[in-house]
Amino acid sequence: MAKLIDGKAISKEIKEELKKEVAELKEKGIEGSLAVIQVGNDAASTVYVNNKKKACEYIGIGSISYELPEETPESELLRIIRELNERSDICGILVQLPVPRHINEDNLIREISPKKDVDGFHPQSVGAMTIGETGFLSCTPAGIIQLLKRSGVEIEGKHCVVIGRSNIVGKPMALLMLRENATVTITHSKTVNLKEICKMADILIAAVGKPGFVDDSYVKEGAVVIDVGIHRDENNKLCGDVDFEKVEPHVSKITPVPGGVGPMTIAMLMKNCVESMKR
Ligand code: GUN
Repeated sequence: MAKLIDGKAISKEIKEELKKEVAELKEKGIEGSLAVIQVGNDAASTVYVNNKKKACEYIGIGSISYELPEETPESELLRIIRELNERSDICGILVQLPVPRHINEDNLIREISPKKDVDGFHPQSVGAMTIGETGFLSCTPAGIIQLLKRSGVEIEGKHCVVIGRSNIVGKPMALLMLRENATVTITHSKTVNLKEICKMADILIAAVGKPGFVDDSYVKEGAVVIDVGIHRDENNKLCGDVDFEKVEPHVSKITPVPGGVGPMTIAMLMKNCVESMKR
């Protein structure tokens, strides 16, 4: 079996499944649109937002976007979110992060109805995931579960080490792996003996936020390595949290950057939108 976990191919497979499902829903008269809110003009956010709109178009759901100026007050954003919560043609609402400093992102996330929280960031969605109830799953961690399952990696009973404890990736990732019956260790910047712990992992998930942080001294021979990072190196080339050249010879499977975890986040966002339409 191929060593590279091909996120591009797997995300395509998921989008094809969703496209079919959307066509079937349309025949039953069920339609919906994703509302995307971007505040300011951060270049990376613009790329992500455009990719989300393109994915909607591809699978056959609508998208409406709010491209708002940097100085938009929080109260105006809250008003827009409330309005979108009430609209029956909107199946999902997302605020592209980060937002400008004068806005409290937690207030925005909490204002989005959990029924339309397709990013899975609302505390109610996070709580539901924690206790295994129905709710939207955070897209990047849910995408990683799909990557592992669809490339034939067994999760149950395996030792999974997650590096990073962010609310968007590290924490939900650990919970989803636990739900799949892995034995999970969460590590972070204050962890003592980080290398030794990572070396015990059957599945190592790097969400560190530092380019090339994980080299071969962190990896057990034959492990599966998932790289959540996305950075530009000194030559402006995309790279991840894992030093791919050093780690790849030692592992059984690994995700590349780009083309690994990245495309899965959008595929899972689309999956959440379709789920919302069905609900
Ligand atoms: N910014 C970076 N990743 C994400 C994401 O998954 N969702 C949103 N809303 N903003 C982001």
